[in-house]
This record gives sequence, C-alpha cells and structure tokens, in this order.
Amino acid sequence: MTQDELKQAVALAALDYVVDGAIIGVGTGSTANFFIDELGKIKHRIKGAVASSEATAARLKSHGISVFDLNDVDNMPVYIDGADEIDHSGAMIKGGGGALTREKIVASVADKFICIADGSKLVDVMGQFALPVEIIPMAEASVARSLRALGAKPALRMKEGKAYVTDNGCHIIDAAGLQIRDPKALEAQINQLPGVVSVGLFALQGAAVCLLGTEQGVKTLKF
Ligand code: A5P
Repeated sequence: MTQDELKQAVALAALDYVVDGAIIGVGTGSTANFFIDELGKIKHRIKGAVASSEATAARLKSHGISVFDLNDVDNMPVYIDGADEIDHSGAMIKGGGGALTREKIVASVADKFICIADGSKLVDVMGQFALPVEIIPMAEASVARSLRALGAKPALRMKEGKAYVTDNGCHIIDAAGLQIRDPKALEAQINQLPGVVSVGLFALQGAAVCLLGTEQGVKTLKF
C-alpha cells in the first residue's frame, strides 16, 4: 500500500470515533485532509467542526460542514488529527504543517485526542523529525540560543525565500537533532522560554488513541 492509501485507511477508521450530534475538532495536514473528505460524507450526523487552521476551515466549508469559532464551543468529545511522530506513550511531534498552536488549543478543549497516522510515524524515541517551535519574531535569536543549549540545531522555517508566517502571524523554528526521551519535561521547558508561542510537542496532553495504518490493516493503540 502507498503512504496515501494508509492515510486514507486511518481516515476512514476515524469515523468510528465521530460522535453523532456533536462538534468535532479537526486537525491539519495531509492525513487530516483525508479525514475531512470522509467527514463530508457523513456531515448530516454532526453539528459541525472546529478547525485548527485556515486551510482546514476552508476544506471543511468546501464540504458544506459548519465551522464553529472555538469561543462558542464549551466542549468537544473528540479532536482528530495526524502527527509527524508519535511514541509508545502517545506523545507526539506536530507542526510540520505549521498549525501547531491552533492544533494544541483546539485539542485542549476536546475530551480525547484521536491520532491518525501511517505506520512510519510510530517511533521509539522522537526527534528524528525536527521539532517545530512557534515564536514571536523578535525572539528568534534568543529562542534559537536556548534550543542550542538543549542540544538542538535550530533553523528558521522559510517559504519562498522569506520567513514562514503562521496563521497567527508568527514564525517557526525547526529544532533538529534532539533525542526526546522525556517529552513531557521538554515540552514544559520549551513552553516557558520567553517568546515561545507554543512547542510542537504534545506530551502533557497526548493522544488517547492512535489509529495506525499498516500493511496488516489499521491498528488501534490506546494510551
Ligand atoms: C500540521 O501542523 C501538523 O501538525 C500535522 O498534523 C502533522 O504534520 C501531520 O501531517 P501529515 O498528516 O501531512 O503527515
């Protein structure tokens, strides 16, 4: 199976976690896009969705799914999203697509994070994928110094020759070269650096379930 077929399979399997009549939190990225396309087919069953990015909001709307402002939503049973890496405790690296801050905010309101990922995303120790850190632009150099002190090789994310700008008007530093053996501690440590908006480690509030696409079918990991 191709990676896209594995993503498609987990997107379909995630429909089992959609709660009838509820508002669903929806992530960002290629796997989340497959999920949105499946959600469009059962849109009559849900009240609507909260989007974790402008791109996701546009895709949801293109399927005729109502998109709610998070400020108008008190709770959501599930948040469904992909990951760049996930470990055996349900901790994840996210933000390869740049939406880490809104993803973390929307996920924090949901009762359960359902991660959907192809099998290549499951790792023993995270860090092979450079850790995204969203920052206030004036803090680029100071946060980069702090990340270097933690053993990382930080690089400002670029797009078309300019600093990449998030939906929040901020920049992203990708911190390569880490071996993340204690993701909760590292998340707390990077979160408190002045100028950090959020770090793409989702460990303090990780996944409750991961639907993992493998050649042997969709595996359900519970944490
Ligand atoms: C978006 O900011 C990311 O957190 C994505 O959820 C993550 O990068 C996974 O993306 P793919 O499903 O495209 O691999």
